Amino acid sequence: MNVIGLSGGVQYGNQDGAAALLSDGRLLAAAEEERFVGIKFANGLLPRHAVRFCLQHAGLDIRDVDLVVFAGATYKDFETTLRRFFKFHFGHAPEIRLCDHHSAHAASSYYASGFDEALIVTLDFSGDRKSTTVSQGRDGRIEPLAQMLKPNSLGIYYSAVTQYLGFQRDSDEYKVMGMGAYGRDCHDFSHILEITREGYHFHHRFIRGVTPDQPSPGKQEPLFDSFPMPLPPRVPGAPITQEHYDLAASAQAQLERAVLSLVEHHVRATGLDRLCLAGGVALNCLMVQKLRESGLVREVFVPPVCSDAGLALGTAYLAAAAAGREPEPCNHAYWGPEFTNDEIRRVLDLVGARYREVSDPAETAARLIAEGRLIGWFQGRMEFGPRALGNRSILAHPGDGAVKDRLNGLVKFREEFRPFAPSVRHAEGPRYFEGYTDSPYMTQTFTAGPRARSEAPAIVHADGTSRIQSVHATTNPRYDALIAATARRTGLPMILNTSLNVLGDPIARDPFSALKTYFASGLEALVIGNFALEKGSVE
Ligand SMILES: [Fe+2]
Repeated sequence: MNVIGLSGGVQYGNQDGAAALLSDGRLLAAAEEERFVGIKFANGLLPRHAVRFCLQHAGLDIRDVDLVVFAGATYKDFETTLRRFFKFHFGHAPEIRLCDHHSAHAASSYYASGFDEALIVTLDFSGDRKSTTVSQGRDGRIEPLAQMLKPNSLGIYYSAVTQYLGFQRDSDEYKVMGMGAYGRDCHDFSHILEITREGYHFHHRFIRGVTPDQPSPGKQEPLFDSFPMPLPPRVPGAPITQEHYDLAASAQAQLERAVLSLVEHHVRATGLDRLCLAGGVALNCLMVQKLRESGLVREVFVPPVCSDAGLALGTAYLAAAAAGREPEPCNHAYWGPEFTNDEIRRVLDLVGARYREVSDPAETAARLIAEGRLIGWFQGRMEFGPRALGNRSILAHPGDGAVKDRLNGLVKFREEFRPFAPSVRHAEGPRYFEGYTDSPYMTQTFTAGPRARSEAPAIVHADGTSRIQSVHATTNPRYDALIAATARRTGLPMILNTSLNVLGDPIARDPFSALKTYFASGLEALVIGNFALEKGSVE
């Protein structure tokens, strides 16, 4: 049974279009539409390129697809829209089914986790009128326990704070989280987000036009009228002051308290000791750290894609489970397109790039990193999800604290308060990070230990945390070999890893977009497949 799960849409407010293909419950391919169209978030688009990729990768024709599932149970007559979409772009429309947005979020985490029993919490701005749901997963079945309707939403709360601080909502929330590291939790937010015994209550009387049945205001319209904040709203682009950092820290701390209260209540009620998270708010990796360290549960799982792009996987999982197929856990994030060395060479020749062929790309890249170069690294299948996990990455040696400024100035062109993250060989993690547990998708932070602080200052944020990626030879042998080869030169089994793109662009998908990033930035070398490019080289 072949199922395609979809996310995205045709309204301006729909974003994160993606497609995932499951065959008898087993994930074969998944990708986000933004990588194909070159526009971040791909607002208002259904994922036709991503669907085409999934079919091509699996060697399937559209007529081999038994079912298409889309997360949007309250979308009016959307089956007709999808039927037209498939007929127009693919010449045939398979059977189409709609499912609930938050059920798909829950499935994307529970079935991917491989846990038999878990508490499942979904948190986002809103989807199908809901903002938060709690369910229990037992023996492959998901049973709802509680829900909160829009606008009682932690996503709306955090988006409103993001907008108040002069950033773009539904996009820049991670900047607020990063800013919090420089501030103090000194403002009481309980009149806005009240902590209750069962979780939280968001006092949404300050929020404009966001009832369950109303569409949300446009992205550039203010979400709030008279937000009772201790300082005036920051004008976008205005200097960021200590007061702004304190506001961000206070808002973040209140979010953490709300989620802790929600999880504590339901852990006590169910006795479940594993937690699966999904939904855009689960991208808040500091909040995930607080949950992990709270001792409320033994394990916390956050899937590689917890934004709405993850709905593509979640809907497909739900449909497979409903049809009696056992959803297979997903133990890595490398589900996107890949390119052969012949394909890469053709592009390099076409653009007239000066390059050399290398027999061992990992050794070549390790030498460059150890020499202090900022390099692009393009290998294997593209990641599904917002993080580059060692296949579409920019890499550097984190031993020099100044590398952050070089990266921000030469390559990433982004704000200095945003931290950079490390990839660490899994077995070495406990030597560098406190309370280390496996974190393969860069979805949670850890407090850096003394060795990480002294040997890898570039990946430790101002609050002493690092958003780590645990690297396994079993799921990415070439990337693990690269870190091992770097460690032989630097003594450090860890590298700085950020995504292969410049500010405002999606992560590179193909050799063309990798070369565009390389040539249009201060990247000093690129190792792409079995080829190496170095600026200033005469080879
Ligand atoms: Fe969502």
